[in-house]
Amino acid sequence: MRIGLIGAGRIGAFHAGTLAAHPAVTELVVADADAARAGDVAARHHAAVLPVGELLAGRPDAVVIASATAAHAGLIAGAARAGVPAFCEKPVAVDLARTVAALDTVTRAGALLQIGFQRRFDAGYAAAREALRAGRVGRLHTVRTVSSDAVPPPAAYVPLSGGLYRDCLIHDFDMLRWVTGREITDVYATGADEGEDFFRAAGDVDTAAALLTLEGGVLATATATRYHAAGYDVRMELAGTADQLVVGIGPRAPLTSVEPEAGGGAGERPPAARWPGFLERFAPAYRAELDAFLRVVRGELPNPCEGREALRALLVAEACEVSRRERRPVAVAEVEAAARACTAELDGAVG
Ligand SMILES: NC(=O)c1ccc[n+]([C@@H]2O[C@H](COP(=O)([O-])OP(=O)(O)OC[C@H]3O[C@@H](n4cnc5c(N)ncnc54)[C@H](O)[C@@H]3O)[C@@H](O)[C@H]2O)c1
Repeated sequence: MRIGLIGAGRIGAFHAGTLAAHPAVTELVVADADAARAGDVAARHHAAVLPVGELLAGRPDAVVIASATAAHAGLIAGAARAGVPAFCEKPVAVDLARTVAALDTVTRAGALLQIGFQRRFDAGYAAAREALRAGRVGRLHTVRTVSSDAVPPPAAYVPLSGGLYRDCLIHDFDMLRWVTGREITDVYATGADEGEDFFRAAGDVDTAAALLTLEGGVLATATATRYHAAGYDVRMELAGTADQLVVGIGPRAPLTSVEPEAGGGAGERPPAARWPGFLERFAPAYRAELDAFLRVVRGELPNPCEGREALRALLVAEACEVSRRERRPVAVAEVEAAARACTAELDGAVG
């Protein structure tokens, strides 16, 4: 397969390695707004370099979009119009109007779009989903999610990211939906900004918490921070009437128990062993999602994460932003109504 990669930054460079090593990929072409960056990544993987327009005009078998978030929607639409199947990193866009417009273009073109919610390919989340379906926790009543970055992203990333809810917690919202099989109906969110100035300058927060109500009265909390020097920490706890399941507690989780029987906090988990970041923690999942994408393109698998899945998670993130700004609980249906107003064609996109 001849595959194009658009965006050669942190995640794009990782995806380049996966694609170059994949047995189905015979040719890899890299594009980035920063030609030098595209050249560096291409050189490491014996790939070619082209400007974005030429890459799409050359009609590769598929493209992987890993550019800055602000460029996703235009690139998704461009790929759909060129008839090129696309995988795109989350989120589809920084706002609902652009998300809806991009998904509408995909629908109209009858194009293939898979979204990069890689946690769907993580062994722990998949096991929790199965166990829940098998009735292991009894009646699920409480879920707690944690997403903590060990260090903040580069300052230049933040204004283009869409903010902490759309950029980071969107993974937790997708997992709440995917693992429990329930939609999130209401949110109450807040955020704090005690870190570096560039978060405030971008209108973003560096730490956030959301209280979420899911269908069937399941209650959830989701927290995220950009400042967690203990290590990269992504977890989900699912508590029910019969049992409790935890995703993300393993030998590399950056947690120190201060209980005497656990060593009283005396470094039972050396800092070097802790997850440093998302690339290490989710490396197998990132590889698995692209392997799945190539199989979807070849018609061997159904699409594991369509555009409307990304839209549902984004609606929750949007509701959190409204809640934080206006300091009030927000029904996701309220934001969905605003999204429906974006286009008369939305019914198809929202699903
Ligand atoms: N799934 C995940 O866990 C995960 C993790 C990290 C990042 N991401 C997503 O991946 C995307 C990239 O994140 P990153 O951390 O690699 O960012 P980054 O800033 O390191 O890289 C972004 C790259 O996109 C390029 N770019 C910007 N506009 C472009 C355009 N119009 N055409 C071509 N290239 C363009 C930039 O030059 C840069 O090289 C973001 O949307 C982010 O949300 C997802």
